[in-house]
Amino acid sequence: MKNAFLVTALLGLATATQAQRTAFEPGKVWPDNHGTHLNAHGAGVLFDKGRYYLFGEHKIAGPKGNSAQVGVHCYSSKDLYNWQDEGIALAVAPAGSGSEIEQGCILERPKVVYNKLTHKYVMWFHLELKGQGYAAARTAVAVSDRATGPFRYVRSYRPGAGQWPLGFQDEWKQPVPGEAALKWWTPEWRTAVAAGLFVRRDFAKGQMARDMTIFVDDDGKAYHVHSSEDNLTLHLAELTADYQDFTGRWSTIAPAGHNEAPALCKRGGKYYLLTSGCTGWAPNAARSFVASSIWGPWRQLENPATGADADSTYHSQSTYILPVAGKPDAFLFMADRWTPKNPIDGGYIWLPLSFEGDQPRLRWADRWSLGVFDQPRPKATAAQ
Ligand code: GAL
Repeated sequence: MKNAFLVTALLGLATATQAQRTAFEPGKVWPDNHGTHLNAHGAGVLFDKGRYYLFGEHKIAGPKGNSAQVGVHCYSSKDLYNWQDEGIALAVAPAGSGSEIEQGCILERPKVVYNKLTHKYVMWFHLELKGQGYAAARTAVAVSDRATGPFRYVRSYRPGAGQWPLGFQDEWKQPVPGEAALKWWTPEWRTAVAAGLFVRRDFAKGQMARDMTIFVDDDGKAYHVHSSEDNLTLHLAELTADYQDFTGRWSTIAPAGHNEAPALCKRGGKYYLLTSGCTGWAPNAARSFVASSIWGPWRQLENPATGADADSTYHSQSTYILPVAGKPDAFLFMADRWTPKNPIDGGYIWLPLSFEGDQPRLRWADRWSLGVFDQPRPKATAAQ
């Protein structure tokens, strides 16, 4: 009897301890309300009616866990430190069902936005069809009436089919003799990429879409940003008013810049984009860009990370930039520390994103809390 009391007391203590997290500890095990490490990789966050919703790839143990075995996991939180398990928001379809999202497909980087016109929650994610590796390069959409789901799978896309990007010159619409034989990474080849070498190749069937994010602007317009053209060039594509389709207006960012893992935010009327290089699950140095219009031109800045391990983004890769609710110009950088041999163990690197003039900055912290945003910070200057 005495022991039972002790066990109950200890369990109570454990729950209380979990409920009392008051800081972020980047890279450490991050228990949810059950004491289980959060299982939301390649995540994004939705802030809706006073609550944060975290959506990410549910991974399982072992290498098989690098493909989708379960679906998209959702958690909710009031304070960003303590997360309540809300279960699977989008489930994969049974293996053998022939669904585009059947178990064993690759389903990455889910991002959920709320649409004020339709009152629907719209989830976009990078989809690779089962058994095709990363060749399909599609983006896909699912819809729900509730933030926590269940989301209903709608369809997948190769965006931009039959549409040239904004600013695409007429003389670029025809293939240039010999262009396919150009040696990669030479100045001639870079010029050819910027002049549509790969855009032309994929014009009819639609442009490739791998690592992606969704950004909703102040005016309610939403944009889908994705690694395209064999991960060489980022594409930014406007979504329709219901956020479930593309309008056909799109543009390229950093042609041949080889960027992945895009994450976007807006501060002082300017747009900031953080990305990584392309080294698969292995981390590399982050990149940063700024633009006064979302359509560009985008100006490349420095590696935003500083200090030890800045060249590997502290062993992580960007997935999202979260504007902190109620704190003006406070942004939280979210990244993944991938562990492909046992994907379920992947860690989360959440750090405050600060700015030095136009330059986004990241500094490592073993432990930090949202109070850092209450310290005096440089004010955002309005876009020119
Ligand atoms: C990364 C990408 C991840 C995943 C991985 C597969 O570069 O950001 O989302 O696709 O490659 O190797």
